[in-house]
Formats: sequence, structure tokens, C-alpha cells
Amino acid sequence: SAVDLPAQDLAGRRVLISAGGTREPLDPVRFLGNRSSGRQGIALAQAAQSRGATVTLVAAHLEVVVPEGIRVLTVSSTLDLQRTMQEAAASADLIVMAAAVADYRPAEVRADKIKKDTTGERLSLDLVRNPDVLAGLVAERRPGQVIVGFAAETEPDDALRRELGRSKIQRKGADLLVLNRVGWTEGFATEGNAIEVLNGAGDIVMEASGTKLSVAHRILDSILQARGV
Ligand code: CTP
Ligand code: CA
Repeated sequence: SAVDLPAQDLAGRRVLISAGGTREPLDPVRFLGNRSSGRQGIALAQAAQSRGATVTLVAAHLEVVVPEGIRVLTVSSTLDLQRTMQEAAASADLIVMAAAVADYRPAEVRADKIKKDTTGERLSLDLVRNPDVLAGLVAERRPGQVIVGFAAETEPDDALRRELGRSKIQRKGADLLVLNRVGWTEGFATEGNAIEVLNGAGDIVMEASGTKLSVAHRILDSILQARGV
């Protein structure tokens, strides 16, 4: 019996997706990180591939296995991720920044393991701001290239969360922003997801919930509808 293939509406398109969470080294054995598992980004890669795209996944500390047939470029820190994304962006028709990118990194990476100071109860870390990878990709965008951001917000109020999303997409200049609500038990490392897609004007063009794979397909639908990649 025939197996239903998804529409090949991304045939010939080159899709670049970042997924997972960056880690910022402190010393040889420690880092600052975040709780992103990479599941939604991997689901997007899988969905795009099944629709005919050639997919490159820039992977920062994924907690799950990537399906066969997807080219994976492994990165760790935000500066790593930025370098790799900039290089790969030169041959991408669509870029999706699903990775959770550290906003700050330790000002200095210590060559030796930091020793505990037993005379005091507190330790302060000096952090410096990381570059905004997404805003940089937008600034260097190729003609016709579509760029999509993600925003994980903990704000529970729908209107306030959408307002955060509206100002964020306008600040970054991305074409679309996928907004999801996260908290201690939502969003990260879970099987399902609930998202809203905002356009550059901050209007909601799509709402979807369900498995991360079904949400991924809806996100790709909204990208194709909004921009015709
Ligand atoms: N992003 C990025 N580079 C950074 C930080 C974020 O490319 N240094 C990208 C993320 O991959 C995501 C989008 O920007 O696609 C939004 O990330 P988010 O952390 O929500 O935005 P910020 O501008 O860092 O705002 P906030 O203060 O809410 O963290
Ligand atoms: Ca951030």
C-alpha cells in the first residue's frame, strides 16, 4: 500500500537550521549553558527534508539523535555557532535560528580549573555580551533569502508575550518569528510544543500545537505562505 509522502514544496531549496543550546566555557571543565534539547530544531530539519529540501543543521549540544540524511555541523559556543552559520548562510535559501544562544559569555576563559575561595561565600563572574547571530545574518542577507527567528518567552499573559515578540522581530529584522512559551516544565525537553508565528509587523500569521514534528510542518507552511521561499 502507498505511503503518503508530504508535498515536495521545498524541493531544491537549501535550508539552514540552528538547533540546541550554546555553551560558554568558563574553565577547562565548566561552562554556562541552557536547557534547550534541540528537539524543535531537529523536527524542523526532518520536516524540511521530507518536503524535498537539502538541509544543513548547525547543532549545539543536542540531546537527541538527528535523522539520517541531514548534514550536521557541530558547534559549541556562540562564537563557534556564529562563524559556522555565517559560512553556511552563503548557500542557504532559508535560515531558521532555532538554537538557544547564550546572550553572554565569561569575559575570560581560564586556562586552569577555577579554585574555590574558602574565605568567602560568594563568587561573581564577569560576563561580556555575545554578538546577535540572527541580527548579523539579517544584516548580511542574500537577495531573496528568508530568515526566521525563534523566541522562547516565559511571560504567561498572551498579549504581553505577543508584544515582546513584536518588539523582538522588529529589533532583529527577521521575516518571521516563532514564539513559544517556556517555563520550568514547558517547552524544553518535552515531546510537544505550542507556538505562534509572527510576521514583521508583529501580527500572528499562524498558531499551532501538537508534536514537535507536526508543529514543524505548520511552521514551514507559514514560511511558504508568508514568503514563498
Ligand atoms: N539569537 C541570536 N544571537 C544571540 C541571541 C539570540 O542569534 N546572541 C537568536 C535566537 O537564536 C533566536 C532569536 O535570536 O532565534 C531570539 O532569541 P532571544 O533570546 O529570544 O532574543 P534576545 O534578543 O536575546 O532577547 P532576550 O533579552 O529576550 O533574551
Ligand atoms: Ca537571549
